[in-house]
Amino acid sequence: MSNPELVLGVLASGRGSNLQAIFDALQAGALTAKVGVVISDRQDALALTRAKQYRVPALFLDPRAYPDRPAYDAAIVEALTAHRVELVILAGFMRLISKPILEAFPNKVINIHPSLLPSFTGLHAHRQALAYGVKVSGCTVHFVDEAVDHGPIIAQAAVPVLAEDTEESLSNRILAEEHRLLPQVIQHYAMGRLKIRGRHVLIEEGI
Ligand code: GRF
Repeated sequence: MSNPELVLGVLASGRGSNLQAIFDALQAGALTAKVGVVISDRQDALALTRAKQYRVPALFLDPRAYPDRPAYDAAIVEALTAHRVELVILAGFMRLISKPILEAFPNKVINIHPSLLPSFTGLHAHRQALAYGVKVSGCTVHFVDEAVDHGPIIAQAAVPVLAEDTEESLSNRILAEEHRLLPQVIQHYAMGRLKIRGRHVLIEEGI
């Protein structure tokens, strides 16, 4: 079943280039959805500026204003719900997600991570990949569960790791794939093509 009116809520802490890729895909007609709200834990996140440019509600929610993580996440849920969000996208959101969000949006939270999971979870994935000496890295889009960078994998893209790579050059190469993959996955979701079977996600093409 297709859902061209799918409402996205994007959580982002930083520059928001993946958010921009979503806006670009929407404008190009490659993605049939809309961004209902962008929420950040950082007041100075460029992602918030980008949201405002597209006249999308941009909210800064200060984690320091809440006693603990569940309280903060409950506030996020309230904001997402107020904006009728149906699918939550973690696009460089640098905080762990807790129960309130996962319970309010079961199998409806998607994350993008700059490594081929299960390798190099957590922070500094590019640095970890370079230190380990892998010849191939990439990015992973996955459903979010309670463990870090762990939920069922939806799609991955690989890039070569070159001998002369720095964190920056590797990150740029992977980012180009992230910007392609994330909107594509969201469109699959919007079209009802993703089926979760335990750890396996089936993508039913051409429905
Ligand atoms: C991306 O590399 C993403 O994979 C990771 O955080 C980074 C966010 O970049 N989770 P941006 O804010 O979308 O530019």
